[in-house]
Amino acid sequence: PYPIYAELRKTPVLHEEEGGAYVIGSYYDILHLLHDPRISSDAANLAAAGDDELTGPDSTGLPPSFIRLDPPEHDRLRRIANSSFGPPHCPRRIDSMRGELSRIVTELIDGLGDAREIDLVDQFAYPFPVTVICRLLGVPREDEPRFRTWVDPLVASLDPDTRRSADTEFQKAAQDARMQLGMYLAGLVEQRTKEPQDDMLSDLATSQGADGTLSMMEVLSTAVLLLIAGHETTVNLITNGMLTLLRNPEILQRLREDPGLSVRIVEELLRFEPPVQLVPQRTCIADIELRGTTIPKGSRIWLVLASGNRDPERFTDPDRFDPDRPDIEHLGFGSGIHSCFGAPLARLETQIALAELARRLDSPRLLQDPPPYRQNAVLRGPRHLPLAIGG
Ligand code: HEM
Repeated sequence: PYPIYAELRKTPVLHEEEGGAYVIGSYYDILHLLHDPRISSDAANLAAAGDDELTGPDSTGLPPSFIRLDPPEHDRLRRIANSSFGPPHCPRRIDSMRGELSRIVTELIDGLGDAREIDLVDQFAYPFPVTVICRLLGVPREDEPRFRTWVDPLVASLDPDTRRSADTEFQKAAQDARMQLGMYLAGLVEQRTKEPQDDMLSDLATSQGADGTLSMMEVLSTAVLLLIAGHETTVNLITNGMLTLLRNPEILQRLREDPGLSVRIVEELLRFEPPVQLVPQRTCIADIELRGTTIPKGSRIWLVLASGNRDPERFTDPDRFDPDRPDIEHLGFGSGIHSCFGAPLARLETQIALAELARRLDSPRLLQDPPPYRQNAVLRGPRHLPLAIGG
């Protein structure tokens, strides 16, 4: 998509058809609009602007979570969730998970055994984040396999690629999985309300403070938001990361020698190959003047984060993967009030995963380059990443 984004940046405000979205691709314009209160994330405004994605048959049936709400509701729900997750500068629960994350990564890599060929997506990148979210929420270990059987069809049903080819049986399975997941989580929340433990569901269920408490439906929609927003994004960052490292063997070698380099590598990946390519669910709630164009009130607006990340007005030599860049202020986690809530967790997961994969995989090589990608304009990542292992 990157040559298309270079074309896009030639037109500051692209509007192709009547009723279509206004598409923005320059770094500074995107940054500015992400902080503009006249741009709404509210699901109701989006539906009014003619986008039925959130109200269609694939919606979760729960009330909108805070990613689809404006202040003051957004702020209230995000603050309550944050008091458990830890503010970005003090990720209390996340930092305490470092040991746990390393253990999960070690188990997954051990599980690869002596295989000479692996699929990094199915065997590593996909199971890792869902296991992490289970531990974070407090899903008991013995329930994890059952939990996975509901999450898999739920995640698959959100992928436009799968949705396009899905038959009625698949849709019914996804619907059943959603119901069962909701019922399971509701049972767990009830249990945690009575006997709180040191996990996020207990914190959400028993939240009390200046922002009040969450209703059962709000707890459920927040838990499902974390599950959905934190899963495939992280799968893709890890997979895009390994692919990029295998295409840049000298950087892979440096990572082997210095695992601390993973911090800069992950930031540069979020600029160079961001899993969330664009933010499509925004509506203008007033007329907005931008570079001589008026974007009328009620229009849908797409902010192409991945294009901003390659904008030569902001980054020198933007198409080069260079973890040594002095200033990697990317848009990979968005910006402003909706900037990624899970960023500290996503960073830590990917840093640990890439450093361990670099250290432990013996001479990994790409079996297919480019690998097959998901047909998804919003989320970018390979569907599979087949690797040969061993000399
Ligand atoms: C929001 C990217 C991982 C939870 C966002 C946004 C982006 C993003 C671009 C902004 C969306 C918008 O402006 O509408 C990513 C990437 C990830 C990742 C690239 C992985 C590499 C996670 C994880 C979690 C998470 C692990 C949770 C465990 C959220 C939530 C929001 C969000 C709750 C909504 C924040 C709000 O509306 O205030 N993410 N994310 N994300 N992300 Fe992430």
